[in-house]
Amino acid sequence: MLPARMSRRSAIHALGLASAWAISPLRAGLAQAATQNVPGFIDPLIARMTLEEKAGQLTLMASAWGGDRAAGLNPPGGSTNFTAQIEDAVAGRLTGVFNVNGATMALRMQKAVMQRSRLKIPLIFAADVIHGHRTIFPIPVGEVASFEPELAQRTARVAAFEASGAGIDWTFAPMVDIARDQRWGRAMEGAGEDVLLGRLFAAARVRGFQGDSLAADDAIMACAKHFAAYGAAEAGLDYSTVDISERTLREVYLPPFQSAFAAGCGTTMASFNEIAGVPSTANHWLLSDVLRDEWQFRGLVVSDYTGDEELIAHGVARDGRDAARLAFLAGVDMSMESDLYRLHLPSLVRDGLVPEAAVDRSVRRVLAMKAMLGLFDNPLRRIDPAREAARSRRPEALALAREAARKSIVMAKNDGDLLPLARATRIALIGPFSSGAHDIIGGWSVYGDDAQGVDLATGLRSAGGQITVVPGCGIDAPLPGGIEAAVAAAQAADVVLLAVGESQEWSGEAQSRTEITVPAAQQRLAEAIAATGKPIVVVLKNGRALALSGAVRDASAILITWQLGSESGHALAEVIYGDYGPSGRLPISFPHESGQEPYHYDHKSTGRPQAAGPLQPYKAHYRGVPDTALFAFGHGLTYGKISYSDLAFDKPVLSRDGSITISAKLTNHGRRSAAEVAQLYIHDRAASVTRPVRELKAFAKVTLEPGEKRDVQFTLHRTDLTFIGMGLTPTVEPGQFDVWIAPSAQDEGVHGTFEFVDAV
Ligand code: BGC
Repeated sequence: MLPARMSRRSAIHALGLASAWAISPLRAGLAQAATQNVPGFIDPLIARMTLEEKAGQLTLMASAWGGDRAAGLNPPGGSTNFTAQIEDAVAGRLTGVFNVNGATMALRMQKAVMQRSRLKIPLIFAADVIHGHRTIFPIPVGEVASFEPELAQRTARVAAFEASGAGIDWTFAPMVDIARDQRWGRAMEGAGEDVLLGRLFAAARVRGFQGDSLAADDAIMACAKHFAAYGAAEAGLDYSTVDISERTLREVYLPPFQSAFAAGCGTTMASFNEIAGVPSTANHWLLSDVLRDEWQFRGLVVSDYTGDEELIAHGVARDGRDAARLAFLAGVDMSMESDLYRLHLPSLVRDGLVPEAAVDRSVRRVLAMKAMLGLFDNPLRRIDPAREAARSRRPEALALAREAARKSIVMAKNDGDLLPLARATRIALIGPFSSGAHDIIGGWSVYGDDAQGVDLATGLRSAGGQITVVPGCGIDAPLPGGIEAAVAAAQAADVVLLAVGESQEWSGEAQSRTEITVPAAQQRLAEAIAATGKPIVVVLKNGRALALSGAVRDASAILITWQLGSESGHALAEVIYGDYGPSGRLPISFPHESGQEPYHYDHKSTGRPQAAGPLQPYKAHYRGVPDTALFAFGHGLTYGKISYSDLAFDKPVLSRDGSITISAKLTNHGRRSAAEVAQLYIHDRAASVTRPVRELKAFAKVTLEPGEKRDVQFTLHRTDLTFIGMGLTPTVEPGQFDVWIAPSAQDEGVHGTFEFVDAV
């Protein structure tokens, strides 16, 4: 019998669901959960819980402590004030809160729950710790320019050390979304456009956050986000539609998640976007068939901020109750911020629309996560106000921030070896990013403070530089007399450092741009400075790749500096004065024009590729703009002069279970030492589905002293040649492969071929 209150429409829906449920893989998953390694006390605890308390364990809300940046980024929902939120927690209406304000606040909440709640289930405290907590490291995409995943592991470790000191158990990081379209502002938060870098940095960051044991008081749980394909939004518009093939999904967007999970990541976040008509938050195929059944993921799925409620605006849910039902049955265990699970799950169960066993299974995952974090043993494990200050911005953390910042800087151009500068050089430091406590630490920093960051002027001065500082213009507007003052300063100087680019507020969530350019006011300033004829070093501020033009593009030297975090100015001074030779490489392609986006180096050939030489009219091209990168993926210069030669193979053929070792000789013909990143790319010449013109398969960072020669060698196996074949499964086919060892995706370096034969 159907409940009396049920409409005909929902009855039909319910029946449909019931039969879908019978054959759904979600059901098979229930049996698996029973064999999961869940501490013995958890199931008896679940047996004692009311439906309302269960729904409470699946409800996460923004902290109502409020009052500063954290509350600004995520306005508290539900409870209107902190006292009311404590009462919600005590009544079992909350599993925890996020973007909290530190140990003092967490102590009050956790104590109230442990003293006064019926079941004494500890709260969990979550936060967006994206690139540091109090010590801020470069924005994630900038840090990837280091091509050192091990560095990202160390910065994530320090971020976890500081954040856990402030009572935080769980970070909504790493963001592992591949970003092939630089109009999309969240390119800043990930590892760029390449799958290999995406995989390596995802795993490294997870290892860093989670440490050796999640129960340690300095470990925090990671959350690989946003599952999935969030970066493939149409036209780079954040939150917008994604309509990509399952092949691209499996080959490009999913692998970083698989690497994060393989590294032990215990949680993931459903993305805001739809894929081919199905919002991720309601996507049973994605969240259950692929994630749970195919990959055997045992952890927890949390919605993004009101992601379940947004199913109404997407147009797949009729109302909040329907949205909660869809999200939950698709596989979202925990609801963030909408409060819909708390409001509707109990009645959905009572009305037979959601099986209580499925609710129990999600609650079990939440409690198992709290147990793994050691919260049942000691709910105050990470909460100690004295420790919060003691762990914050320690000298070794700031030293690491400086190391990460200097390794993130990419020198894209250095005509006439203008850089490095001598300390005696008279510098006119011009541009809106020259000085001041803004745009230093970068976007997506809940707990960082620009006022504690080192700006460029301070960095240069403390390195003993001789500088005159003139802003010249604002970020997006002229300043009265600004250009005149800047031109006068340039004329009185030997060299101009031009600190231009985009504000840190222009990238990150909801920050999409149609023109990824230097703003007009700054471009005008640059043209005026170029007219003085003084040599110019552009120090570019950017949260994405920018399409540079005019005097900015034509400057003698260009440093791509992202937003470098707490130690920004010091790190820049080291590179500018040559105390550290630039070693960063671009993890994203810099196009000639915005209109080339989405542009990524690992694109397909088309049937009519444009060959080198004179432009062929009926081959792929844009009018007047080359369809290449201005600065290619992988590009970055050093203070040395590196050549590539002597490509060699240990054998001409790779067999099914064998390996092939490919080597090249690097020589530093320059007068300074250089950290070179040698990159190995392959191209499958003929396969049953088209393959990218190049794919990065390996890289090595090697330091060469002046005059030094060194061999780099890479070993490939059959698995390195895998692609998603006709049957949408990993496939390797015999045939000829091009291989390059090169300094960028657009550089020839040294090039040869080898063959793969599918035989032993
Ligand atoms: C973002 C997530 C973030 C969450 C909580 C959302 O708007 O998309 O990346 O973790 O807010 O702050």
